[in-house]
Amino acid sequence: MTEFSHRVEQVSISGIRKVFEAAGEDAINLGIGQPDFPTPEHACQGAIDAIENGRTDAYTSNKGTHSLREAIATKYDREYGLEIDPEDAIATSGGSEALHLVLEAHVDPGQEVIFPDPGFVSYDALTRIADGTPKPVSLREDLTLDPAAVEAAITDETAVFVVNSPANPTGAVQSEADMREFARIADEYDVLCLSDEVYEHIVFEGDHRSPLEFSRTDNVVVVSACSKTYSMTGWRLGWVVGSTRRIERMLRVHQYAQACASAPAQYAAEAALTGPQEPVDEMVAAFERRRDVVLDGLEDAGLEVPTPQGAFYVMPKVPEGWCEEVLDRDVIVVPGDAFGANGEGYARISYATGIAELKGALEIIDDATAAVK
Ligand SMILES: Cc1ncc(COP(=O)(O)O)c(C=O)c1O
Repeated sequence: MTEFSHRVEQVSISGIRKVFEAAGEDAINLGIGQPDFPTPEHACQGAIDAIENGRTDAYTSNKGTHSLREAIATKYDREYGLEIDPEDAIATSGGSEALHLVLEAHVDPGQEVIFPDPGFVSYDALTRIADGTPKPVSLREDLTLDPAAVEAAITDETAVFVVNSPANPTGAVQSEADMREFARIADEYDVLCLSDEVYEHIVFEGDHRSPLEFSRTDNVVVVSACSKTYSMTGWRLGWVVGSTRRIERMLRVHQYAQACASAPAQYAAEAALTGPQEPVDEMVAAFERRRDVVLDGLEDAGLEVPTPQGAFYVMPKVPEGWCEEVLDRDVIVVPGDAFGANGEGYARISYATGIAELKGALEIIDDATAAVK
């Protein structure tokens, strides 16, 4: 008789969904994991032109159109001074598929995958789906990932360690010194560093740096996407870049599971990457203003919260019963333990919502906090 595989039996549906389902219809949603801005017009036009010119009715190359991969290579040159061969990139169905490809191609049964806890929900689940063993590591007090903690967690069984900066759910940004350390660890221990950079452009001070800039081996692969930078989560377009031999292995999975990323989305992504970047700057400036409003509100409510430097999340420490009290008052926040055991006692607040709604929610949060303190 057919049973379910032990891999899927170990994975449960994300705790984030459960919160959404439990909330009332008029709730203010601070649980959102996507920008609330429109996709830039020139990106949409890229897809429209491709559709009108009949360029979307066929599979593209498995790796994606050459012109998109050139746009991706140009982006890494422009932003990081990195020379990437367009052949060493695969366009994927969002950053999510790219994470899956990296783990499927590099993890053998029982091998360990180290990732931040609290961290993005997919790292644990995709590790289990790849038949690997999740190895969550706790964060520093400021919610960044300590390279020393990663180094201490490495064993002979470690296949991959994940770095995510700017991070979901914390908004924390790793320093350049940390990124250099992650590259050193990948090189020295001969372990793959998976750098999840989907929030790379949503940084408020300084620039995001990638371990790919500092590694002297091919032990760093980078995953990114149009999803957050260009407010294109619905388009489902991301990518992975890495060395030729790693891309070739990942392509074996992608080719059979996906064939190619959606063609209209690829043309939109190419237009997004090669067109004007002002919409990104405007969105990031708006996120920074909102972050400050949220930080002020949370501090006024008496909550302790490290200042996040990126993404669009803050993660305050909260007293017991706080999330329930806030949810009861129809403000959706995500309990920190949805992101790993060490998230217990925290909550993730997303500010991908207009300032007026944020201010309304912060008043409710103030009352709710007073009620549980
Ligand atoms: C840290 C992180 N990585 C990857 C993803 C997946 O992004 P995509 O929508 O491109 O699949 C997300 C989405 O929330 C994320 O927060």
